[in-house]
Amino acid sequence: GSLWEQYSQKVSDRMNNPRYFGELTEEDAKRLGGRLVIANEGAESCGDTVRLFWVVGDEDEVIKAATFKSFGCGTAIASTDMMAEMCIGKTVDEATKITNLDVEMALRDTEDQAAVPPQKMHCSVMAYEVIKQAAAIYRNVDVETLKDKDIVC
Ligand code: FES
Ligand code: FES
Repeated sequence: GSLWEQYSQKVSDRMNNPRYFGELTEEDAKRLGGRLVIANEGAESCGDTVRLFWVVGDEDEVIKAATFKSFGCGTAIASTDMMAEMCIGKTVDEATKITNLDVEMALRDTEDQAAVPPQKMHCSVMAYEVIKQAAAIYRNVDVETLKDKDIVC
């Protein structure tokens, strides 16, 4: 069908009304008993960029809060918003295992219909990559050591 029909309702909903859009501050981190982590990721090909905020619990490494800011396309906003939601309540290690396909699957209305047209899959890769950046900053390791091959795009 037309491109219009290739986007899910969930993508439409989240790009117009993201739930986790915004910044987290040192005050939030203190209030939640955790450490603030801020990570950036961008896609050189389209110029879109996202910034992810985490508060990671001091005791348990659980992500207590996650938000994002973006100069990204609608699909990047929808994907990053869903990704932020998926991070909350997971440990840093668990969150680092979230792939861009997990994000895309979560944005589907029905299991057998993709959430976005194929040429927009790279937007969910940015959501995946910014998790890796955040985890690398948190662990103080090179981000390349956290990257794996399960990107689907
Ligand atoms: Fe993302 Fe191929 S590089 S769709
Ligand atoms: Fe660049 Fe969507 S077109 S992230």
